[in-house]
Amino acid sequence: MKRLASGWKVSGIAVGFVPTMGYLHAGHISLVHNARQRVGSKGQVVVSIYVNPTQFGPTEDLAKYPRDLAHDKKLCREAGVDVLFVPSNAQMYPEGYSTYVIEEHLSQAMEGASRPTHFRGVTTVVSKLFNLVLPDVAVFGAKDFQQAAIIQRMTRDLNFPVKVVVAPTVREPDGLALSSRNKYLSPIQREQAVILRQSLQHARNAVAGGPVQATRLLDEVGKRIATASEARLDYVEFFNPKTLEPATVVKRGTQMALAVFLGKTRLIDNATL
Ligand code: PAF
Repeated sequence: MKRLASGWKVSGIAVGFVPTMGYLHAGHISLVHNARQRVGSKGQVVVSIYVNPTQFGPTEDLAKYPRDLAHDKKLCREAGVDVLFVPSNAQMYPEGYSTYVIEEHLSQAMEGASRPTHFRGVTTVVSKLFNLVLPDVAVFGAKDFQQAAIIQRMTRDLNFPVKVVVAPTVREPDGLALSSRNKYLSPIQREQAVILRQSLQHARNAVAGGPVQATRLLDEVGKRIATASEARLDYVEFFNPKTLEPATVVKRGTQMALAVFLGKTRLIDNATL
């Protein structure tokens, strides 16, 4: 990968990059198309597939994270990906590995509070991938809103010469955001998973008429989620989309994010209200 990337640099070939953990779906492929559009037919589009162990907590789903490399290859080929980069754990974290990248501010709340070592793993692996692939543009999905904000901050703070693009979430017809983890859902959990999107919609409708206290919306969303027998709210937050500072008064333009367990599967979603 390093040899290819430095060759492209020397030849002035634009590189678009989509980092993933595999088990690809239409959401990932929309990121690939976005990257292609940005680098053009003469550019190179790289997809990485790496289930990064450092971003999983000790009780999380690393071992059973879904994998299907043959299907991923097929989707990448059909989408016109030039290089599929699939490093091994030994290559990414060789014996004695001891260096990490930590964003200290935006990573404290929400996913960072629920998954304390998660973002350290994400920023570390994305830095390593940026150094290996040397992309001009890297495309991330808006479903992981906090992740995208942290990567943008890290890219600026550490002067990576990479344009970070955040592309829209792709959804099922009933509004469920596409995610590799949707595969874990039982039929009843899958049915009830629309509660995330419905909660976002509820808040959007509530603020359409004017500003609303965050406490009131938190209560309403909590009650709504409690109506789904398989669902358990992990968090719901209202915040400024630029700074991620919590909002006490929620209005149009406020960002909302939530994480909900359906059985053992934890799903996240977010929207600008
Ligand atoms: O969003 C993901 O799939 C992962 O967090 C990423 C960015 C590929 C890093 O492992």
